[in-house]
Amino acid sequence: MEEIGLYEAMQTLRAVRRLRPDPVPEEVLQRILEAASWAPTGGNVQPWRVVVVRDGERKQKLGEFYQAGWDAYSEGHRAQLADAPEAIQAKQARMLDAGDHLATHFGESPAVIIFCFNPKLMAITDAKLDRISVVGGASIYTAVENLLLACRAEGLGCTLTTLLCGYEEEVRSILEIPEPWGTACAVPVGYPVGGGHGKISRRPVSKLAFLDHWGNPFES
Ligand SMILES: Cc1cc2nc3c(=O)[nH]c(=O)nc-3n(C[C@H](O)[C@H](O)[C@H](O)COP(=O)(O)O)c2cc1C
Repeated sequence: MEEIGLYEAMQTLRAVRRLRPDPVPEEVLQRILEAASWAPTGGNVQPWRVVVVRDGERKQKLGEFYQAGWDAYSEGHRAQLADAPEAIQAKQARMLDAGDHLATHFGESPAVIIFCFNPKLMAITDAKLDRISVVGGASIYTAVENLLLACRAEGLGCTLTTLLCGYEEEVRSILEIPEPWGTACAVPVGYPVGGGHGKISRRPVSKLAFLDHWGNPFES
């Protein structure tokens, strides 16, 4: 396998929703999981675990809930798009088509990696603020991002998905996940149909980063 540079991997890590059913070798799964294990977490506690789902029946059950979540989400998203400029509509239509494909074939993904977290193992420093808390996620999604980047390096397609989180009880039951573990995301993984990862579209740094005070664009 030809090694890919880290910056190139980051710059081409896009959501790949069309996956071939070919199995992913055990040693490749081992490597991407190892990459996840290297992520930083608060206090180095590693309050996450993954369930790598390869069993056809369990994947199919997960896929049914994913489809239900996607149907509800995509219906709302399509309705919102009706008034958007044509270029945005076309781009979003492509994403929605790919999303439809993933939802229909979710259960056929060679592996679905479910990230779980234990809230009792986390020091959540913004828990008492009068807004939604985000700090806890930082000890889970660092590992998820490492896994996604490793997938990119291995030539595997993948997408971070969260629609199944709305069906946490059902997912817990399908995968026998004990209390108090919750679910943070599901990553379907497999070799891509077609080119897979590639060009991404993001805001420029000048719109995302400020220098010294809010609103002063960071520009080099
Ligand atoms: C927190 C989070 C949740 C996401 N949930 C889903 C999901 O449930 N289903 C899905 O198809 N994509 C999901 N995505 C993928 C995003 O839609 C995708 O990363 C974004 O549209 C950018 O697309 P690109 O990486 O292909 O450029 C999620 C991404 C993130 C970061």
